[in-house]
Amino acid sequence: MTAPDTGNDGRLPRTGKIPYGGDYNPEQWPERVWDDDHRLFSRAGMDTLTVGVFSWSLTQPAEDAYDFGLLDRVLARAARAGRHIVLATGTAAVPPWLAKRYPEVNRTDFEGRRHRYGQRHNFCPTAPAYRRLATAMAGRLAERYAGHEALLAWHINNEYGGVCHCDLCAEAFRGWLRERHGTLDALNDAWWTAFWSHRYTDWDQIEPPSALTEHWRGPDHTAFQGITLDYQRFMTDALLGCFTAEKEAIRVHDPDTPVTTNLMGAYRPLDYHRWAPHLDFASWDNYPPPDAPPTRPALAHDLIRGLKDGAPFWLMEQTPSTTACRDVNPLRRPGELRLATWQAVAHGADAALYFQLRASLGACEKYHGAVIGHAGRADTRVFREVAALGEELAQLGDLTLGARTPARTALLFDWDSWWALEISDGPSRLVRYPDVVHTYYRAAREAGADVDVVPVTADLTRYDVVLAPVLHLIRGDLPTRLEELTRRGGTFLATFLTARCDEHDRAFPTDVPGPLAGLLGIRVDEWDARPQDVIQPVRMGESCHDARLVFEIVQPRGAEPIATYGADFYAGTPAVTRNRFGDGEAWYVATALDPSGVDDVVRRVLDRHGLVGPYAHLPAVETAGRVTPAGEHLLFLLNHAPAPAHLTAHTAATDLLTGKRYARGEPLALDPLGVAVLRPR
Ligand code: GAL
Repeated sequence: MTAPDTGNDGRLPRTGKIPYGGDYNPEQWPERVWDDDHRLFSRAGMDTLTVGVFSWSLTQPAEDAYDFGLLDRVLARAARAGRHIVLATGTAAVPPWLAKRYPEVNRTDFEGRRHRYGQRHNFCPTAPAYRRLATAMAGRLAERYAGHEALLAWHINNEYGGVCHCDLCAEAFRGWLRERHGTLDALNDAWWTAFWSHRYTDWDQIEPPSALTEHWRGPDHTAFQGITLDYQRFMTDALLGCFTAEKEAIRVHDPDTPVTTNLMGAYRPLDYHRWAPHLDFASWDNYPPPDAPPTRPALAHDLIRGLKDGAPFWLMEQTPSTTACRDVNPLRRPGELRLATWQAVAHGADAALYFQLRASLGACEKYHGAVIGHAGRADTRVFREVAALGEELAQLGDLTLGARTPARTALLFDWDSWWALEISDGPSRLVRYPDVVHTYYRAAREAGADVDVVPVTADLTRYDVVLAPVLHLIRGDLPTRLEELTRRGGTFLATFLTARCDEHDRAFPTDVPGPLAGLLGIRVDEWDARPQDVIQPVRMGESCHDARLVFEIVQPRGAEPIATYGADFYAGTPAVTRNRFGDGEAWYVATALDPSGVDDVVRRVLDRHGLVGPYAHLPAVETAGRVTPAGEHLLFLLNHAPAPAHLTAHTAATDLLTGKRYARGEPLALDPLGVAVLRPR
């Protein structure tokens, strides 16, 4: 792997407005249709087309034959219309000839079955033939199109993901382990191989974890968490190696154009924090499940923004109307697309792109929503909404480009902890990392706080509040940095199952919670895990909340109880504690409190720093701040309710979308699903 060639500040494509457009597959249509497409793109205010995402079998019909004729014409047509191109390398779906000639390129699954040709995302990341041919394609494209007037950004591959378990990967894993652990003694120690007679005496004895080796009942049940964790890290790096190899090939010919790949938000298989330094800018595809609360996509936006140290990112894909891959694919109701798009911008998106601009006539995405449907009409509801939104976004010009989020609250997000928690035998399989993280994120956001979702290595000196939900693994100097935060007056909050293990998933040979015990002022000897339907009443001051799943029995060692359990043999013992440390506080929530309980705790924490927002009493109204490069503080107001919201302007401001001016204290009404972008005056 090569050293990252960008700082973590991000290098975004330069545009004069929010790029608007999306995935475009003209290769599926006769060229006479392209003119219709461009006419409609103009009507919808679209200036940016992502092309070539799945065109490898066209650009390279045989190993020794390249054909860029069609792509040349696509780019020329776009340039003629003054549109930008985000050019994909197209290496996410291998052509049939490649799979036939190099069968080792087909992935081997968790059960050990070598797949045959089919679908997409179907390549083994360590197969030399794939690497060689994918890299060659990226290089050829860059050689041909570097400097093209339409070229705005490079889009490598598509939604990297999945896992391979073939022998090539096994060999590469052994090499990766040598680099990571150095010696077999260190590896045996990290994996705790004295357990079940696993001491390795040769690197060749190591088998990757799979259904044939350490696992039973699927990928979450492993005999050796250390082995499985390392394989997840290795797969992250193996796929990242594919990305960096293509990027290097591009850089040979094109030193400047920003490079990205479309990520998938909180996607468990890949630790995006390991990818972050290699991306020039982050981008992601937003397809929230239909029943997801708005804080779910918001969390993913903030996580992706956190990859590049708070720099804006691109919304690379979203559907204008409906998905196709779910069992049931509801429509976005009128106004929902607009709201979701402004939500992305509010959280730091500097581009708003769709999948897809024109619907496929065939194959599994033929019913997927598109800006232009099969009949090529502009007089549809979806087209009208898309066009209206294009106009509205254009109104902002370049105002929000490069704008940062002024968050004083950080939430630590950690793939290692996610993996470790969900492959752990005990205490409870019912604790799901993203759910607990979301509960705390939602509480902070609904209280009106901007939140940076950051890795554990992030600089914490800029924050007043740091939240660490189920941060199962603790590594590096994090405990020291959290102590510094608290000493200087900040507030730290951790929950149950935090700081249980080191980076290899070995329990600390000390009291729980390991290296955070002193800061939190507690000791935990026992924890009780119960089925979903067992409820513990937790009393906190005047209020009582339900708690579920895991009840840790906390012994205060300096901390004061804030809430106590109401039932069972540990009734009366603390469920929530607060420890004064330096000028600050360290809170511990020892159980999975229901959302109202988490609200209660999080609002107390935020309140201490004046971080509860002016509209916190209206949970359906989301607020998000951005500070423009010129130093202006914009406040986005997003009404997620299907009913109007009645607010009182907290400051004198102008709504940039309507031009309406508000005096401080004046009534401000938001339509159902309405949006306002307030610029203070
Ligand atoms: C994305 C993918 C696109 C398309 C879309 C459909 O995950 O990148 O190529 O398949 O889903 O929702």
